[in-house]
Amino acid sequence: MPEFNVTPYDVEGVVDYNKLTRQFGTEKITPELLNRIKKHCGDVHYMLKRGVFFSHRDMNWLLNEYEKGNKFFLYTGRGPSESVHIGHLVPWVFTKWLQDKFDVPLYFQLTDDEKFLFKEKLSLEQTSSHALENALDIIALGFKKKKTFIFRDTKASGTLYPQAIQFAKKITYSTIKGAFGLQDSANIGQIWYTSMQAVPAVLESIRKKHNVPCLIPLGIDQDPHFRVARDVYPKLGYHKPALIHNKFIPGLAGVQGKMSASSEESTIYLKDTPEEVANKIKRYAFSGGKASLAEHRKLGGDTSIDVSYQWLEMMFEPDDKKLLKIKQDYESGKMLTSELKEILINNINAFLKQHQKNREKAKKQLSSFLWEGEKLRKHIEGK
Ligand code: TRP
Repeated sequence: MPEFNVTPYDVEGVVDYNKLTRQFGTEKITPELLNRIKKHCGDVHYMLKRGVFFSHRDMNWLLNEYEKGNKFFLYTGRGPSESVHIGHLVPWVFTKWLQDKFDVPLYFQLTDDEKFLFKEKLSLEQTSSHALENALDIIALGFKKKKTFIFRDTKASGTLYPQAIQFAKKITYSTIKGAFGLQDSANIGQIWYTSMQAVPAVLESIRKKHNVPCLIPLGIDQDPHFRVARDVYPKLGYHKPALIHNKFIPGLAGVQGKMSASSEESTIYLKDTPEEVANKIKRYAFSGGKASLAEHRKLGGDTSIDVSYQWLEMMFEPDDKKLLKIKQDYESGKMLTSELKEILINNINAFLKQHQKNREKAKKQLSSFLWEGEKLRKHIEGK
């Protein structure tokens, strides 16, 4: 039994990210790469600096192209099976930063088809309407209106399908079984699906009628899709998409696997009230503090296993100085777990308050961000 397992459809065990980069054959993000990014952006996003984004494929190539004047575009996506929780935000927050810094288009795929095919209980109507709900959370993060193209697969299929079959023709059944760990009992839609996820990586190239480099920020679990895509695209005359991978935010209950909606307690949703946030963190956030007050004061807390600290570091305390102070105080025993949790609760609630307001406003903006059907087709065909 391996100690951990990561595929797009299953994340189990305590992930060793060093081993995972070796298993997957990706490259680690080095200080040199961070410097290169800094040169273009003026600063480095805290998620990069802190190793939340830790691995990549072809970032150096992407920056070489950029330096030659060959701008890239961004692509990411969301499988709309449920309400958005905090773990989903990581790649999106970072993608927004990239879009701001490089001022580039973003294609955002909502895979209502995928979640229908992979979730026994969900109907297509459900995944499609979840997708629109999720789109509000995406828009609320502040992506650029004229440069962000959000679409649901089932409503964009007229544009995507001709590309998807080009791609599908180059992939064998055995490749898919191997890459995704699918069993013979898998429905055939699951075998086909990766062809749909591959398409947005070339949409801007099709639109511009020449190859445009593509950068995909994504959770490391999504890498297998693009490993396949990177094998196939050169055979179709396209560039391989570049990838930049993030780690998973741990669930409240501990560092195992990725945050999942299958256990309510381990998840904070973007729609949660301040009371719900406070209750869940107080009750469930795994603590690296000591059992007794005296012991804690003497020995201090362990930030490497403390979920509240991890959440601050990965997402909710962008300020390096404040984070360092928290780390020092907690590790020295000056700060108690209850105080640490209070900081996290305040930061999350401040974020959610703004987010929920933005999300209300997003309802009016939805139609200008959605590019489906004829609208997407005309955009891609340059009409
Ligand atoms: N398969 C992804 C999920 O289940 C959704 C997705 C589609 C995606 N295209 C993507 C994620 C590109 C990252 C990058 O969530």
